[in-house]
Amino acid sequence: MADIEQLNGDAQSRIGAAEDLAALEALRVEFLGKQGSVSALLKTLGKMTPEERQEQGPKIHALREGVQAALTARKEALENAALESQLAAETLDLSLPAPGMPQGSIHPVSQVMDELAEIFADLGFAVATGPEIEDDWYNFTALNMPESHPARAMHDTFYFPDQAPKGGKMLLRTHTSPVQVRTMLEDGAPLRIIAPGRVYRSDSDATHTPMFHQIEGLVIDKGIHLGHLKWTLETFLKAFFEREDIVLRLRPSYFPFTEPSVEVDVGFAIENGQDGKGRRVLGGSGDEPGHGWMELLGSGMVNSRVIEMSGLDPDQCQGFAFGVGVDRLAMLKYGMDDLRAFFDGDVRWLRHYGFSAFDQPTLSAGVGARA
Ligand code: DAH
Repeated sequence: MADIEQLNGDAQSRIGAAEDLAALEALRVEFLGKQGSVSALLKTLGKMTPEERQEQGPKIHALREGVQAALTARKEALENAALESQLAAETLDLSLPAPGMPQGSIHPVSQVMDELAEIFADLGFAVATGPEIEDDWYNFTALNMPESHPARAMHDTFYFPDQAPKGGKMLLRTHTSPVQVRTMLEDGAPLRIIAPGRVYRSDSDATHTPMFHQIEGLVIDKGIHLGHLKWTLETFLKAFFEREDIVLRLRPSYFPFTEPSVEVDVGFAIENGQDGKGRRVLGGSGDEPGHGWMELLGSGMVNSRVIEMSGLDPDQCQGFAFGVGVDRLAMLKYGMDDLRAFFDGDVRWLRHYGFSAFDQPTLSAGVGARA
């Protein structure tokens, strides 16, 4: 009797303390194996009198079951612990900065896009998007450039071999203007949107890259006229360049999707930079001595043909649109002189011009405020 209790206490405590599966297996053999101590006790049952057996039998069986249960529980606990420590050791936190590596920063193009979204949101504009792989119809035809239109040739288009659903070939959009058509078709009038994004043209030198960024603006409503366009552009450019003395010059021009079309120039002065180099600084009338005009963006009143092809009634609503190069805006605002550096992925350049991810552009703090 004392034997059984002692054996049980001994087995339970040693099993509970077993440090690994091998130690546990050794204990199983020691207690429940053929030569094991519990097995030996079970064998004594055969030599007992029926009375003794009736008394001892249940105790010895209970001992065996208790030891077996302790072995099973400990095995499970050891296996769980092994899995836990394996999982803990294999943890990989991809959000941790690699030791010794430079911290990432916001690319100037992203920064300028954020600044533009902030400025236009304040004027009640929503942000719209469209696909970069575009249907010929949205990129050209619906913008009043039918298949034979000479303006198509000016776009240096990258075409895909695939047939577009609405005729012609699929292509990489050459401008953000197709988002005008898509948004009018989808949302109807009235509309106030900007559409920032990537555009593509087969063209490459110091001022042109095959991929660049544009931002499109579109306002559709009743009674919209050129005055609304001029006020909107002036307000946007003053906020963006963070100076009040921005002067615009509107020149008659031609785009198939606007009528009339207006090219917008902005006045600049040549100022000496810290390095003594002459630099264009925006502000003031370009007609003053030492000043000049720089072409900045295309715009105009949306051509009634475009409004029609976008599913709206040109007798009911009018609108204005504009398109401007985001990379160009960034170069002008932050004094960068080679467009190709935007796409070099040189971390030194990025660190020099890069913006902190925590420095969100706001109108109250200045849209281009740097940390
Ligand atoms: N889509 C033109 C381009 O890429 C730019 C443009 C001109 C957009 C006039 C407009 C506009 O919305 O009204 O050259």
